[in-house]
Amino acid sequence: MKEFIKKVLQIRLVLLCYMSDFKRSVRYSLSAIKNTKLHLQARIILNLHSLEKGLSFKNRKEGWGGEKAYNLAVLVDKYNKTYGVDEISINAINVLNEYLKDSSSSKNDRFVDFIKKELSTNDTIKDGIGGVKKVSKPSFSISYDQVRDFFASRRSVRDFSNSEITVEEVNNALEIASTTPTACNRQAQRVYSFSDKSKIKSILENQLGDQGWCLKANKMFVITSSVSFYNGTFERHQALVDGGLYAMNFVMGLHAQRIATCFKMYVRKPSIDREFRKLCNIPKDEDPVVLVLAGHYPLEEIQVPYSYRFKEK
Ligand SMILES: Cc1cc2nc3c(=O)[nH]c(=O)nc-3n(C[C@H](O)[C@H](O)[C@H](O)COP(=O)(O)O)c2cc1C
Repeated sequence: MKEFIKKVLQIRLVLLCYMSDFKRSVRYSLSAIKNTKLHLQARIILNLHSLEKGLSFKNRKEGWGGEKAYNLAVLVDKYNKTYGVDEISINAINVLNEYLKDSSSSKNDRFVDFIKKELSTNDTIKDGIGGVKKVSKPSFSISYDQVRDFFASRRSVRDFSNSEITVEEVNNALEIASTTPTACNRQAQRVYSFSDKSKIKSILENQLGDQGWCLKANKMFVITSSVSFYNGTFERHQALVDGGLYAMNFVMGLHAQRIATCFKMYVRKPSIDREFRKLCNIPKDEDPVVLVLAGHYPLEEIQVPYSYRFKEK
């Protein structure tokens, strides 16, 4: 009987978690009723990415993409008037410029005139911001064995020295993380860095505690993903997928600088989420993906779990 009650309570909690996810999706995802700056940014990125893909195809249909380019120009116009010109709208303007230069693009006057008008109001056409670029088989000089050894040399480390991780080291890791592909190039991931021990302690208390190692870390990073960049239907888990890929590359960026790391799973529960967001000052549209505890290696050799990799899948 006790077991049965436990199960029922568990299922009730599952339902509460799903209801909370549903509420967040309705409020903050790209399917939300209210439109925010982030939603507009997401729509601009989705449109510009679609045009860039079109431009990259070898065979383009005569008059392709007119409606899409027009829609993008309308969105950029609205965005710039409401929020001002920024990197995203500059990116879009440059893609529109490349689109108009394409010999197969739509020559529909209504579309072209509006896009040209939009381009003329912005002095933001620059090389290397949007359109297409050429790539070929990479000619990097590191061997397969070196790459494998680099990946294999990362292990989750739960012991750290007192030495500080510098701003430069964090920025380097962010640079590596920024190479992460995201669905339609949305780049909705953010990294929050914490060094203050008492702050880290209170965040850990929200996340089932220190587990006997987390407080040894020099820094705690919280990787988040904004759900406002993803629709609430078929893309409803994509924020976390993109966030996971990003987090891995961020960790590899730290590892490349010989900095020890260990992920800490984010414990996801409505009441915990609310407190966590407050503690970390994370906007409501962002979902925490994972925590990363990091620090330089201790001088002496340390032991880590073997964490054997299964060969049969
Ligand atoms: C998303 C994620 C969450 C994790 N959460 C924890 C955690 O809460 N506590 C912990 O000690 N290790 C955690 N780990 C570390 C794993 O235990 C570790 O990656 C795994 O055993 C493989 O070992 P390796 O990282 O040394 O290759 C996590 C790893 C990942 C990828």
